[in-house]
Amino acid sequence: MSPATGRHLLSIEDLDRDGIERILDRAASFAEVSGREIKKLPTLRGRRVLNLFYENSTRTRSSFEIAAKTLSADVTNFSPSGSSVEKGESLKDTVQTLSAYDPAAIVIRHPHAGAAAMVAGWTAAAVVNAGDGKHEHPTQALLDVYTLTRRIGPLDGKRVWIIGDILHSRVARSDILAFTKMGAHVTVCGPPTLIPRGIEALGCDVRYTLDDLREADAVYTLRMQKERMTDSYIPSLREYVATYQVNARRLGPRQVLMHPGPVNRGVELSGEVVDSPQAVITAQVEAGVVVRMAVLYELLAGARTTAPEPGTPGPAPGTTASATRSLSATSSVVG
Ligand code: NCD
Repeated sequence: MSPATGRHLLSIEDLDRDGIERILDRAASFAEVSGREIKKLPTLRGRRVLNLFYENSTRTRSSFEIAAKTLSADVTNFSPSGSSVEKGESLKDTVQTLSAYDPAAIVIRHPHAGAAAMVAGWTAAAVVNAGDGKHEHPTQALLDVYTLTRRIGPLDGKRVWIIGDILHSRVARSDILAFTKMGAHVTVCGPPTLIPRGIEALGCDVRYTLDDLREADAVYTLRMQKERMTDSYIPSLREYVATYQVNARRLGPRQVLMHPGPVNRGVELSGEVVDSPQAVITAQVEAGVVVRMAVLYELLAGARTTAPEPGTPGPAPGTTASATRSLSATSSVVG
């Protein structure tokens, strides 16, 4: 367990429904800034945000960088290639070295489950988990709830199907937790080899075919996480596509289509549905900026006692204490 300091976002388990709603309300208030010509708020002026990415990323890294810069923080992007990691420096030594620059926040992506929680124990900075192995990706889940709520309204009683490689997906774990906390009913679907045993304990149903897909209000598809596979989990890609690909034949006209990206066109999704008006994949990317602004705000500025600077959306009544509380609850670490 990492110390429950109340300064980190490591898992969706750290948040209750109120905490999620507060972050998403703030994200909505930041959306107005994103629409301005001058996209800048002074909130984090003079503070340092360190992006520490040990795995590839397009959307998550760029949106964290844009989010921090929009809040006027100074951002440093660190990647292991070209650094002393290639000379054998450990994660702990790297984090302690970079912490000497006194960052206010470290955003960490790492191939090992539990890495973000470990980093939180080695630094005085607020730590945001930007994906730790197959464990969790909490900001992805927050932006997914934000995007879907804006498209179909409150999620209470709504049905969300998450399809594909559930076993290796941190997005699936965080999304199951977040969607169910918001009142949705989640079903996961995929080949039996790619559904972790006991996943129902997270509060979802399990299906192995797309036969009842039409019951879903939202269809959330996942990429096959080849980089995390140590074995062959499906007989062939052709068979997977035949059984699980979401395409125009399977997707109903009123269903919302989601994907965290990157999409492997022609595998989990057919090209035509990716480009259809039902797909909110680009809206998810757009939401990534305002939701990550809201997370940085909540961790770095929301708990401050000083009044917000002009032009900065103020904390909602009662935010300070409850934000600290809900962000500090148990931070789960899996091995
Ligand atoms: C996901 C990730 O890296 O966990 N992508 C993302 O952050 N948008 C999903 C994936 O890589 O398939």
